[in-house]
Amino acid sequence: MKVLVVGGGGREHTVIRKLKENPEITQIYALPGNGGMAQDAECVPIGAKDIASIVTFAVSNEVDYAVVTPDDPLVLGCVDALEDAGVPCFGPRSEAAIIEGSKVFSKNLMKKYGIPTARYEVFTDMQEALRYLETAPVPTVIKADGLALGKGVIIAQTRDEAFQAVREMMQDKKFGHSGDQIVIEEYLEGPEVSVLSFTDGKTIVPMVSSMDHKRAGDNDTGLNTGGMGTVAPNPYYTPEVAARCTEEIFLPTIRAMNAEGRRFKGCLYFGLMITKDGPKVIEYNCRFGDPETQVVLPLLESDLFTIMRAVTEEKLSEVEVKFSRKNACCVILASEGYPEHYEKGFPLEIPESVREQVYVAGAALKDGQLVTSGGRVVGCTAVADTLEDAIRDAYALASQVHFENAYCRKDIGQRALRAVKGV
Ligand code: AMP
Ligand code: GLY
Repeated sequence: MKVLVVGGGGREHTVIRKLKENPEITQIYALPGNGGMAQDAECVPIGAKDIASIVTFAVSNEVDYAVVTPDDPLVLGCVDALEDAGVPCFGPRSEAAIIEGSKVFSKNLMKKYGIPTARYEVFTDMQEALRYLETAPVPTVIKADGLALGKGVIIAQTRDEAFQAVREMMQDKKFGHSGDQIVIEEYLEGPEVSVLSFTDGKTIVPMVSSMDHKRAGDNDTGLNTGGMGTVAPNPYYTPEVAARCTEEIFLPTIRAMNAEGRRFKGCLYFGLMITKDGPKVIEYNCRFGDPETQVVLPLLESDLFTIMRAVTEEKLSEVEVKFSRKNACCVILASEGYPEHYEKGFPLEIPESVREQVYVAGAALKDGQLVTSGGRVVGCTAVADTLEDAIRDAYALASQVHFENAYCRKDIGQRALRAVKGV
């Protein structure tokens, strides 16, 4: 079987490694992939948003199955185009990917179907938004409606910051048309939990929970990034919280999407905050999280390809989805300066002995040498019996990967560890 994976980051590398465990798969293409995954997949230089070329490639190479993981192609209809050309896919069609593609859509969905989330108002007129902010409580949260490379959420600590965020989005068009509409919402407090799930629109199977570390600096300081590291499972996701999430959030979301005629098939990601009033949805993503995938899939004991095909065929209830009870930790090595300005093009050394535990996000092959090519460069994932050991082992792995301007957070997993220890 020939499988195509759209995307080129650490998340896609993790998906590819897991797919490779299935002996039926004889060929994996990554579009575009990256130089660091060339030993695991054939990288084809077609961009993830170039849907016409992706379809042409899939058809002319007789691809049997496609996995689409990044948000942009999903929202733009990559799955629709591939399926219409006869290629079965893992991933939602664009009508369902809107759950991530439009925050106004997802907030209105939650309100309509009583799914717990932060209180909010939607604005299309800047003056109205500014007037509203004059009396709104702070901190407050300003969100651009559309995709914004993960940067469209501003937590404004003061009224002035809130005014500025609104002006940047609506007047200066910092995120283009993504800021034509904005959501202003209540600031929530509590630990965050990421739950990725498999769903075929009929059945939903949550994966092991995880915790992201979004800020660039230790102790959650500095700018928001795509994610600097993850651990799984997340100790705040207790069996009681899990049961509430299933009843109050997961099942109602699937039912709501069906009722709207937007059946969601693929990986639905729930970004949750465990508030004192119970779990609430911070955001939905229509895809695997990055770097959550780098800790969740290594704990998956069942065959990923079998599960994916069951989702496509709407037979998810018939397959086993089993996770290990171990712990995983992923430490991201980034280029110093990320998420702002950083240099790239430095030689990247990954010793053969650790290669299988290193997922490459930002590297290119230049004259046969791997060089850094992005902000997040690699994710180093260790699996161990305890969280403490997983953290230690992930940092030991990271210390063996070398490039000139490498930077990592030193505290990945520490908050989770404190929660495990009850301190
Ligand atoms: P996002 O870009 O949607 O992943 O949001 C980035 C981060 O902003 C989330 O992971 C939360 O930490 C934070 N955030 C989003 N919405 C809220 C909210 N209503 N209250 C507090 N923090 C929030
Ligand atoms: N790590 C968060 C995300 O993938 O959006």
